[in-house]
Amino acid sequence: MASSKGPLVGAIDQGTSSSRFMIFPANSQEVISITQMEIKQMFPREGWCEEDPVEILESVQKCISDAADKCNELNIDLSQIKAIGITNQRETTIVWDKFTGKPLYNAVVWLDTRTSTTVDKLVDKAPTKKADYLQKKCGLPISTYFSAVKLRWLIDNCEEVRKAIAEDRCMFGTVDCWLIWNLTGGPNGGRHYTDVSNASRTMLMNIATQEWDPELCEFLGVPQSVLPEIKSSAEIYGYMAEGPMKGIPVSGCLGDQQAALVGQCCLQKGLAKNTYGTGCFLLYNTGTELIFSEHGLLTTVAYKMGADQPTYYALEGSVAIAGAVIRWLRDNLGIIKDAADSEDLAREVVDSGDVYFVPAFSGLFAPYWRQDARGVIVGLTQYTNKCHLARAAIEAVCFQTRELLEAMNNDSGIPLKTLRVDGGMTANKLMLQIQSNLLGIPVVRAPMPETTALGAAAAAGAAKGVDVWNLEAMKEAPGEEYLPSIPIADSNLLYGRWKLAVQRSMNWVEK
Ligand code: G3P
Repeated sequence: MASSKGPLVGAIDQGTSSSRFMIFPANSQEVISITQMEIKQMFPREGWCEEDPVEILESVQKCISDAADKCNELNIDLSQIKAIGITNQRETTIVWDKFTGKPLYNAVVWLDTRTSTTVDKLVDKAPTKKADYLQKKCGLPISTYFSAVKLRWLIDNCEEVRKAIAEDRCMFGTVDCWLIWNLTGGPNGGRHYTDVSNASRTMLMNIATQEWDPELCEFLGVPQSVLPEIKSSAEIYGYMAEGPMKGIPVSGCLGDQQAALVGQCCLQKGLAKNTYGTGCFLLYNTGTELIFSEHGLLTTVAYKMGADQPTYYALEGSVAIAGAVIRWLRDNLGIIKDAADSEDLAREVVDSGDVYFVPAFSGLFAPYWRQDARGVIVGLTQYTNKCHLARAAIEAVCFQTRELLEAMNNDSGIPLKTLRVDGGMTANKLMLQIQSNLLGIPVVRAPMPETTALGAAAAAGAAKGVDVWNLEAMKEAPGEEYLPSIPIADSNLLYGRWKLAVQRSMNWVEK
């Protein structure tokens, strides 16, 4: 790890599986320090997924204090850190008491599908009886994925939440908001803020005006009194209230996928990236133009780099299960010890032996939006072994990305010529080759893996009053390129069989 004398920027990256804190020199892609802690996920019932908000907060605080210790070892003066940015798992929903700061329930994670009945009821209530009823207002289909539906469930099912709302002491927020409020003082003056990119994932924000929309709130049955104030992605929200970094401005905030878009330097219309984390998310920058998908993609805010800056939008293809399927091979099947083993195992065979694995553990997100879909593995024979399964799991991530790319190309009318990729799973070189084969275009891996944290650091450093990062000068460094190595006709054949497997995941049981 290098040391640095100039201004530095810290980034909190609070993801679904872990919390991290990174320090970058301003305007640089060099990482000076990384500290990390895993986060426990709880699955109390089939389809449910929760995390402990206090554990989320404490893990962030621990990463920050470990980073301060590292700075000491590296002879870095903490006064060099000019700002801290936040990037986070999106949609995950937290409600807490504004006086005690205590959560009123566990965090309901974005992957959680407990709200499927709530979704059915909302779709039924829509005059069109269609899940896209609110799309023109908020950019999103009615789905278990988004925060407002989770909040609705909490209001319907949790007496404590209802009571706190009635007594005007309930605060709602996504993870960014929970962290900003706590880090800037909590019950003692903490700022109840979120940024536009995170707010655009709630279903409550009007995507055109970037304000909470009374009609959306009314339709979803959410009282506006619990909502935070919507800020831009780059401005001083407040100052660290305690700990070794006390007094440093918190001045950047982006949902993790939007942060990766910034970290990958996709700051112009027409540029796109795909990030492989727990899920996988392809974002295509549409500039300041609001485009609504006709092929199952979301319209989302990409970023707004300052209160007086324009809002940039993106079309997004969201897949719920990517890296999580590898975790499932490890934790639920026990056929690998750690994620990296999946590549070795898959390389032991030349193909998946005609096995297709659709990991619809949380239903299917884009482009299908079918909460009733469930995971299927088809094509098993006595020949099939764990290597084929590992390979089919890796291929599943790549097939799902092809579905996103096709939707994206259809919506934009301009086929993407290269796909920029990043995220933990891009350490898997076999996956990158399969991805390029199945897309039929070059896949370019970002030269540094921490694009998400980099995006948050860039936003924080560029905020007015901090002014240590020049976003306009951010340039993409050359990455590692993977070119298709099979004829497109072969990849089309495989893709056709994948589509058959997807049909089975949606129709495995008669409704
Ligand atoms: O929308 C969910 C997304 O923000 C989660 O990201 O990195 O945990 O897969 P990740």
